[in-house]
Amino acid sequence: MQKEDLDFFRKWFFEYVNQFSSPDLFIKENIELKIEHTGRVCENILLLAKSEKISENDCMLAETIALFHDLSRFEQFMKYKTFKDSESENHAFLSVKILNKEKVLSHFSKEEKGLILKSIECHNMMEIPQSIEKHSKLYFFCRLIRDADKIDILRLASEEYSEENRSLNPALELYLPDTRGYSEPIVSEILNNRMAKIADMKNRNDVKLLRLSWVFDINFPATYSLLREYGYLETIMSSLPEIKETSLLRRHFENYLSSINS
Ligand SMILES: [Fe+2]
Repeated sequence: MQKEDLDFFRKWFFEYVNQFSSPDLFIKENIELKIEHTGRVCENILLLAKSEKISENDCMLAETIALFHDLSRFEQFMKYKTFKDSESENHAFLSVKILNKEKVLSHFSKEEKGLILKSIECHNMMEIPQSIEKHSKLYFFCRLIRDADKIDILRLASEEYSEENRSLNPALELYLPDTRGYSEPIVSEILNNRMAKIADMKNRNDVKLLRLSWVFDINFPATYSLLREYGYLETIMSSLPEIKETSLLRRHFENYLSSINS
């Protein structure tokens, strides 16, 4: 892969997203949010890739994966007015479909194209499929995009929650109600150091917990360092409601994170 390829992809990306401009402010806000998210995920993936000291070519491959990982979000939002895959389409599969349809990666070798598409396809799965060999290059790139993506979703969430009086973007809250308490299966998954499941979310508190539960699926030490440096987890944690389960959950997260540090 050449530097010119990456320049072409960046240019192509902006031309592609330009067709989704809308006078509707709600659509506009969410389209811009995903453009910004893509840029941040590109930055994150490079930070992680560099911390792993991978080759220049692999850094460019990583950036290409980041650039296209959410390519479908624009079409998805325009068409369904939601980012919720369960009420629209699986956005990872849809991104792969668009890349194939647009023939963006057509001059790549079969291996490189396969690596990019498969990493995108797996970026939002609950876990990386077992069929992907643990020490393979593909497995490495799957882990890279999953971490880079999570860092930025946590940034977005912490920014939303740190401005207390701001009305939350309902699309980011997945249109869930602002009711009291937590959903029990989510609390239980967290106390067992497991990622919570989207299907178990019943309200906005659960959205916060689900995002915090991603700490159990972090792949690289540099990801923890960045999260620590930026303080996203602390901001989300301090936005949790003052109810009895919260202190238990906060303690659990803190103990887990300090066990990672030591
Ligand atoms: Fe995504």
